[in-house]
Amino acid sequence: MTEFRWMTAGESHGPGLTVVVEGVPSGLEIDEAYIERQMARRQKGYGSGGRMKIEKDRAELRGGVRHGLTLGAPIAMWIENRDFANWTDAMSPNPVGDGVDKKTHTRIVPGHADFPGALKYLHHDVRNVLERASARETAARVAAASVARRMLEEFGITIHARAVSTGTERSPETDPAAVNWDEVEASEVRAADADSDRRFRAAIDAAKAARTTVGGIMQVVAFGAPVGLGSHVHWDRKLDARLAQAMMSINAVKGVEIGTGFANTTRPGREVQDVIVPDPSDPRRFRQVSNHAGGIEGGMSNGNPIVAHVAIKPIATMTSPLPSVDINTGEVIEAAYNRSDICQVARACPVAEAMMALVLAYAVLEKFGGDSMAEMKRNYAGYIASHDEFGGQGGRRQGG
Ligand SMILES: Cc1cc2nc3c(=O)[nH]c(=O)nc-3n(C[C@H](O)[C@H](O)[C@H](O)COP(=O)(O)O)c2cc1C
Repeated sequence: MTEFRWMTAGESHGPGLTVVVEGVPSGLEIDEAYIERQMARRQKGYGSGGRMKIEKDRAELRGGVRHGLTLGAPIAMWIENRDFANWTDAMSPNPVGDGVDKKTHTRIVPGHADFPGALKYLHHDVRNVLERASARETAARVAAASVARRMLEEFGITIHARAVSTGTERSPETDPAAVNWDEVEASEVRAADADSDRRFRAAIDAAKAARTTVGGIMQVVAFGAPVGLGSHVHWDRKLDARLAQAMMSINAVKGVEIGTGFANTTRPGREVQDVIVPDPSDPRRFRQVSNHAGGIEGGMSNGNPIVAHVAIKPIATMTSPLPSVDINTGEVIEAAYNRSDICQVARACPVAEAMMALVLAYAVLEKFGGDSMAEMKRNYAGYIASHDEFGGQGGRRQGG
């Protein structure tokens, strides 16, 4: 087994973000242009704040890749914060004199990491918390996940995410296999149809006019995963458990559902299970007639699309700030307002895709891991062929 690991470091207004990705086999084709395309997807979004206009993110490869191919060594990336030019004193890693503006921040924002973070780490300047708690860090996750995504593509696994609701506006229920993902990509609110696009924009406009913010629900889907990623044998090897943790780790995410998890509770059991039938195209193989399980049974992928719904709360920073307190004096004041988004659902979709990619890359490497892509592909092909022995599922099958 090869263990896939990744870490990020860096603050929102610091010099930049550092990413290290470990456990990627040699011989995977990747270059900066591919990573840049993924990074750009995180920056689009109706209702985004000013920062997106300042920064066009670029992840430089600093190690582990040579001439467009991975070496099998740790992959290092560097994402410069262009905005740092305005923060050289305030975010200097080295001591600065008393006379300089340190952009100290003491007015805690309810709903952010400010309050518990300041008390836990004994920071009297809340900037020491919010700089790392900021969703700026998700740019580094998208960079790390570009490598994961590129590797998954080699095994026919593709990942998409779209907004299925914004505020009280919802999209009609659509089978993920029938969604026009190009249309989602073209939509600034990541809606799959023109009517949802219009309604989601209107919800964001209304929130802006009311000087508040609005959340929503994302649908994250992986197509092409083989049967048997993850395992039923231990709590921490269950694929659904890993996905839930990964999605929940995204800033402002407060709910995760696999398949039709919540709606299942109101339906009779007979309607919730995904009945297995012989596949008409090949009676030795099986398929499920539905996918309420969201592609995961017993903590393992079952060959159907893996489907998660992820709930994002409305963001906490508002042009009309909530009442709050100064962390040092206890004085009742308004919460701080910094340049901020009205709605981050669209921008969070590529982040959710990134987390899905990172979890699946871990599981694919755990199952088929090798030191080179060639070795992994042999492992993969041997596993898929082994399913023919017992006339079973046929690992690469897509259900639906
Ligand atoms: C893509 C993305 C962009 C975000 N942008 C903002 C923002 O502009 N302003 C803000 O206050 N919160 C923003 N957030 C949410 C905060 O980072 C998050 O609410 C905060 O760190 C507290 O963590 P928690 O909500 O997970 O408890 C964003 C989240 C994501 C995923």
